[in-house]
Amino acid sequence: SPPVLGVLVGAYLLGSVPFGLLLTRLFGAGDLRAIGSGNIGATNVLRTGRKGLAAATLLLDLAKGAAAVLIARTWFPGTEALAAFAAVIGHCFPVWLRFNGGKGVATTMGVSLGLAWPIGLAYALVWIGMLAATRISSLGGLSAVIAAPIAALLLGYRDYAAVLALIGLLVIWLHRANIARLRAGTEPRIGSKKG
Ligand code: G3P
Repeated sequence: SPPVLGVLVGAYLLGSVPFGLLLTRLFGAGDLRAIGSGNIGATNVLRTGRKGLAAATLLLDLAKGAAAVLIARTWFPGTEALAAFAAVIGHCFPVWLRFNGGKGVATTMGVSLGLAWPIGLAYALVWIGMLAATRISSLGGLSAVIAAPIAALLLGYRDYAAVLALIGLLVIWLHRANIARLRAGTEPRIGSKKG
């Protein structure tokens, strides 16, 4: 129906705004695609040495996910899980970048918060905890996307657990190169020379 299609397209477009690329270009921080992992997310923005831009990328990639869900809930109640999925798809496969986007960790935090703040809180705690313990960005993000659907189930949000599990599978798949490096013990730590 038209509302569902509108929510899908609107949330996709919101999610597809590549804040990491926009900010690094706007502030002359170099070509994200040519450094580090080549990813457009906050972790790779950090590798430019611009901590403020990395923080802004994290916040804005998160905010667009939360906004997509909150707008959907306000205008078309019941479509928020759909909006959550479409926003992450937009971030990971933006039409503007020939469908070559980010890995979805920050945007998934945002949609988790938008769906239900306790899920977002669980996501943030696992993410920050794992990051603090290992200083490996991908490991923190992967732990958080796995924790999110489990947290949703435990907290009683059964309807949101399914979409978060689906998003989690996508985010894990997008991290397959990171997972190969993790298994090989070569995934860089944040702040390290290669990191
Ligand atoms: O969100 C992406 C993060 O988990 C890994 O980023 O640049 O180290 O591949 P990167």
